Amino acid sequence: MQIQDVFRYFGNDLKRVEEHMEMHLRSEVLLIPEIIHHLIDSGGKRFRPLLLLATSELCGYRGERRYPLSAVIEFIHTATLLHDDVIDHAETRRGKASANRVWGNAASVLVGDFLYSKAFKLMIDDGNLAILKLISTTTNTMSEGEVFQLMKAGDVNITEKEYLSIVEKKTSILISAACAIGAILGNTADSRIEAATRFGMRLGTAFQITDDTLDYVAKEEEFGKAIGQDLREGKLTLPLIRTIKKCSPEDRSLIQSGIAQKDEEAIAGIMALIHRYDGIPYALAKAKSCIDEAKGFLAPFADSEAKAALFSIADYIIARRL
Ligand code: IPE
Ligand code: IPE
Ligand code: MG
Ligand code: MG
Repeated sequence: MQIQDVFRYFGNDLKRVEEHMEMHLRSEVLLIPEIIHHLIDSGGKRFRPLLLLATSELCGYRGERRYPLSAVIEFIHTATLLHDDVIDHAETRRGKASANRVWGNAASVLVGDFLYSKAFKLMIDDGNLAILKLISTTTNTMSEGEVFQLMKAGDVNITEKEYLSIVEKKTSILISAACAIGAILGNTADSRIEAATRFGMRLGTAFQITDDTLDYVAKEEEFGKAIGQDLREGKLTLPLIRTIKKCSPEDRSLIQSGIAQKDEEAIAGIMALIHRYDGIPYALAKAKSCIDEAKGFLAPFADSEAKAALFSIADYIIARRL
């Protein structure tokens, strides 16, 4: 199964998810739907809802609760993007001007809060305490990840372990929650819910490492976000962390001063060093090993179309340009 086949296979379900999102973004305060529409109409892979749909099918559930709960996950994701673009001073998102650039920081933060609280309302309506518990812990951990990342901004001594901890907290955990909810909906054995959770964690880590690599090497038209943005924000990610570990003391000082300067010349210099020390292939290999591990967690599940879809999604994560 190719990734296009996966999107086609779940096409009708994804349409239902969109309908639920549309229904719940409504508000008489018109700026709210305006900003949310700006963001959700400009694309987005809907990769987290896709995972929820695929894992619930893997675990034998094909009922209606998949749609509002997928909307919950995508709303939380959208809220984090609104907040993230304020924090990162981003100008572009999904190939368009980011919401913070169009409406300002205050509106972006507040509409992000609207989406967060709407997500929790939808979960209460669903009424499953295990899911509520899971998502409360997830969003709380995501905030920790963002703050930890902030504490480490510009720090050339950040270790790979610390980087991976940030990634797990800010990104992997929500992707994992999408998979875990699918398994919970299937009312499957705890060991299988655990397997789906772990699958999602490794997938999520590969996803963020790939994103951090694309931040250096993608084409802006394809990626839909500015290239080199992480460096401009003093965000040290795996390709650079690896380079700092491997390079000469002179190159390390160059990197340190370049991160402080943040001008285009300094950024180009750092990018050249990352290429010289093979920071990109190193990060990609790490992402690949996460994907292999993730697939291993699905061993307890018998072969099925849903499992083939999950394998295809896993492969897509490290092959994507977007
Ligand atoms: C972007 O997530 C934020 C990261 C965790 C890297 P996606 O790449 O899933 O964003 P969209 O929804 O497809 O735009
Ligand atoms: C993604 O971090 C994490 C969240 C949005 C929670 P990034 O800062 O790498 O995401 P992009 O690259 O702006 O999408
Ligand atoms: Mg960002
Ligand atoms: Mg990024």
